[in-house]
Amino acid sequence: MEKLKIAGGYPLKGAVKISGAKNSAVALIPATILADSPVTIEGLPDISDVYMLKGLLEEIGGSVELDSGTMTVNTDDMTSMPLPSGRVKKLRASYYLMGAMLGKFKKAVIGLPGGCHLGPRPIDQHIKGFEALGAEVTNEQGAIYLRADELRGARIYLDVVSVGATINIMLAAVRAKGQTIIENAAKEPEIIDVATLLTNMGAKIKGAGTDVIRIDGVEHLSGCRHTIIPDRIEAGTFMILAAAVGEGILIDNVIPYHMESLTAKLREMGVPVDAGDDQIFIGKSEELKAVDIKTLVYPGFATDLQQPFTSLLTRAKGSSIVTDTIYSARFKHIDELRRMNANIKVEGRSAIVNGTVQLQGAKVKASDLRAGAALVIAGLMAEGVTEITGLEHVDRGYSDLEAKLEGIGATIWREQLTAEEEEQLENS
Ligand code: EPU
Repeated sequence: MEKLKIAGGYPLKGAVKISGAKNSAVALIPATILADSPVTIEGLPDISDVYMLKGLLEEIGGSVELDSGTMTVNTDDMTSMPLPSGRVKKLRASYYLMGAMLGKFKKAVIGLPGGCHLGPRPIDQHIKGFEALGAEVTNEQGAIYLRADELRGARIYLDVVSVGATINIMLAAVRAKGQTIIENAAKEPEIIDVATLLTNMGAKIKGAGTDVIRIDGVEHLSGCRHTIIPDRIEAGTFMILAAAVGEGILIDNVIPYHMESLTAKLREMGVPVDAGDDQIFIGKSEELKAVDIKTLVYPGFATDLQQPFTSLLTRAKGSSIVTDTIYSARFKHIDELRRMNANIKVEGRSAIVNGTVQLQGAKVKASDLRAGAALVIAGLMAEGVTEITGLEHVDRGYSDLEAKLEGIGATIWREQLTAEEEEQLENS
């Protein structure tokens, strides 16, 4: 096991190129199962979730080539091989194998997914959708069994606006008989990206990116080439980092339209943000004002940026309130930030951040992916050296993190944990 060390307190400057979107990648890769000829996806991020999904496609007989972010999937020998355990438990997005395998083979067995622990993360809306399409769904010893004689289009109203359920139902419906209408659908850019891939494969989808999606089922889908969208959460993480410790940082390969809720909040704090066509420049900020944020479904403030933003707020003058309406337990980074001298109180679903404080380097642990990003930003802001463990979470979602940070002047490196440190970590 490794730890990440950051010598903080130095200003950063330069340019960072954003990678392909993790939360698109993890849906696009399972979507390739639906095609009857090879699909190529370009621009995939270099993250462990991508390798995990590659392994899962291979487990069901797919032949997958991956070179410098370009993946080609040949589905000729794929079967509906059961996947009750193993890799499926390592990432949340393995649930997309349910929709894709059900859509293609009319049956699937998928172990309940893993991923970050952010409070309860039910998949009842996914299952409601599959059942509405005609599937029988049972939970047997921690694995979901899905079977259907045939899938028939249906009108499905989501009780909760869910990215995962919207995409999963889309995957199951594109080869169903007749029309499916998803009402109260999520509108995230990743949903449009998946719909674009499926449309290029021959699917008939209208309305992706709005709250009503209409899908007319087709019998076959074929291969195509698709370039993934840039990662708006990685871009947001670097925008926040630039506001916290930057002296002029250019974020390249970004869709500024996807960043509007964050851009507005940064400007409200007094951060200079200059958006171009596919770049955003964050200038050096002087005194920062406290602001309140409330996470909402897209296009509201992304829950995935709530944790990194909390680190920035420790630098703002006054009290800021951070409320997460999406996940009830996405505050595990707060205890770690407190170790670094942050003054933050958690009350229910809100955290109250009192600034300005000077963060101090400390030994901290990333409990989940975006908590890791929050701690990296805090480490860069802090005086002294910060040591971050729990890197397996960070590696699931941030492509070339150290290289990108070194490129803008950060002093950051990895070290092996000693046997004693490993033992301490296991007991913590
Ligand atoms: N929900 C239900 N029932 C369901 C599905 C969701 O109650 O059947 C609830 C969830 O518990 C949550 C809310 O609805 O309170 C939103 O969940 P959603 O389904 O939208 O989330 P997700 O698909 O599981 C994706 C991202 C998350 C991101 C959320 C919200 C992927 C693989 N994950 O999760 O990303 O936080 O949408 O935008 O796309 C991350 O990248 O760090 C991450 C956690």
